[in-house]
Amino acid sequence: MDNIELSKAAISAMERAYAPYSGCRVGAALLCSDGSIFTGCNIENAAFGPTVCAERTAIFKAISEGKRAFVKMAVAGGKNGTVNEAFMPCGVCRQVISEFCSDDFEILCVSTDGIAVFKLSDLLPMRFSPENVKGSDNL
Ligand code: THU
Repeated sequence: MDNIELSKAAISAMERAYAPYSGCRVGAALLCSDGSIFTGCNIENAAFGPTVCAERTAIFKAISEGKRAFVKMAVAGGKNGTVNEAFMPCGVCRQVISEFCSDDFEILCVSTDGIAVFKLSDLLPMRFSPENVKGSDNL
């Protein structure tokens, strides 16, 4: 699965966004190490707080289907549903990705300039990870 194909899957997922409040449609496509792909879109809510981002939709779908090992994720988004500038994953999504992925997990951010590739360690340096909690007497 090359970066262009994964990015196309993220762009397709934008179509399924439920974004009546912001008008921002976001799609994500997560490549698992077994080659399977899980897509996600943002799902907004009238109460605003329950809104979930595309990246978390994709990763939660994958986890709930038994996947634990991931290679990379493409993210595409746009105001009014059109891709222009890169939609960078929000801080909450970075932390959720951090729970399951290593520093070299790749995040592909799609824009009209192309696909910018970041490592998780670029987007969430000095992260708080499961390693910080393992070994605690409560676990
Ligand atoms: N959004 C995402 O789907 N992913 C992000 O990383 C940032 C924000 C969504 C949430 C909301 O529906 C809309 O974009 C505007 O914030």
